[in-house]
Amino acid sequence: MSTLKHLPTRVEVVEVGPRDGLQNEAAPIALQTKIELVERLAAAGFANVEAAAFVSPRWVPQMADSAELMARIARRPGTVYSALVPNARGMEAALAAGAGEVVVFSAASEAFAQRNINCSIAESIARFEPVAAMARDAGVKLRGSISCALGCPYQGEVQPAAVAEVTQRMVDLGCDSVDIADTIGVGTPGAVQAVFEATSRVLPLARQAGHFHDTYGQALANVLAALEIGVARFHASVAGLGGCPYAKGATGNLATEDLLYMLHGLGLHTGVDLDSVVDAGAFISDALGRASHSRAGRALRLRRAGAASE
Ligand code: HMG
Ligand code: MG
Repeated sequence: MSTLKHLPTRVEVVEVGPRDGLQNEAAPIALQTKIELVERLAAAGFANVEAAAFVSPRWVPQMADSAELMARIARRPGTVYSALVPNARGMEAALAAGAGEVVVFSAASEAFAQRNINCSIAESIARFEPVAAMARDAGVKLRGSISCALGCPYQGEVQPAAVAEVTQRMVDLGCDSVDIADTIGVGTPGAVQAVFEATSRVLPLARQAGHFHDTYGQALANVLAALEIGVARFHASVAGLGGCPYAKGATGNLATEDLLYMLHGLGLHTGVDLDSVVDAGAFISDALGRASHSRAGRALRLRRAGAASE
C-alpha cells in the first residue's frame, strides 16, 4: 500500500493506443490486427478504448478504415469505444459507427492548431458547435482534447492561462470532460501541477484527464504530480505506441504497461489486468515487427520467460 498520502484510490486509464498510437504508423496495418488489438484491450478491462478517428484520410491515412473497424469489433459490455472527430462530417460517421464517446480537439497554441487542423483555435471551436449539438441530440458523451498544453513545437512556451482559456471554451461548447495533452512530452511535474491548478478554476479536476507523451521521459513523473493534486484519469498507449504526425520528434504516449505498473504498485485500483495488457503489447509489437517501447512490458515478459524456464 502506498505511503503517499491523498492520492485518489481509484484511477481511470483510457487506452488510446489504437487511435493515438496507430495513427502515426506510416505502413498500412491490417484491419484484422487493429480489430484484435481493440478486442484484447477491452478484454483487459479498460472502461474506455479510443479506437478510431473519423478524420480526413488524406491527413491521416492509417485511420481510413475506422468505420469498418467499429462495425467489426466484438463489443464488450462496459467498455466505451471512443472516436476522434474533426468536423460534422466526421461526427456523422462516428455516430453511424456507434461511438460511445466522441473527442473533439483543439490546441492551447495557435501555431499548432494551424498545422494540425488547418484553422485557428477559435475557428476550431466554432467548427465543433454542430458536432456538440449532434452529440447532445444523440446522447453521446463529448470530450475535448487540448494539444500542446505544456509546450508547442512551433511556438515554444505555453502559459497555463492559455490552457485554462481553451478549457473554458470546451466547457462552453458542452464538453463533459477535457484532456490536458502534452503532445510533445516536454512538460515536467511542476509545470503539470501549474496547468491543472489553472484549469481547475474553470472545470473540476474530476472531469479532466492527463494525456502525456513520453518524449523526454517525464510522463510517469507527470502522472504522479497530477495524482497528487487530485487528477484521477490518465491516457496511455499500449507498448508506448505513437507520436504525432504534426509534431516532429514527438514519441508515443506514456506506455500503458508502465502506467499500470506504477498505479498498481501504489495500491491504486484501475480495474485493468496488467498481464493481459502486456500480452496485447507483445501482440501489436510483433505485428509491427519491433520491440515494445514499454519498459514494464518488456521486463514482465522477461520475468515470465525466466519463470517458465526454471
Ligand atoms: P482540410 O484539408 O483543411 O479541409 O482538412 P477540407 O474540408 O478541404 O478536407 C480535405 C479533404 O478531407 C476533403 O477530401 C474532404 O472531403 C475530406 P478531398 O476533396 O481532398 O478528397 N474530409 C473528410 N474525410 C473523411 N472524414 C472527415 C472529413 N472531413 C473532410 N471527417 C480537416 C480539415 C479537419 C478535415 C483535417 O485537417 C483533418 O482531418 N485533420 C485531422 C488531423 C488529425 O487527425 N490529427 C491527429 C489527431 S490530434 C492528436 O493526435 C492529438 C491528441 O492525441 C492530443 C495530443 O496528444 O495533443 C488528441
Ligand atoms: Mg496524443
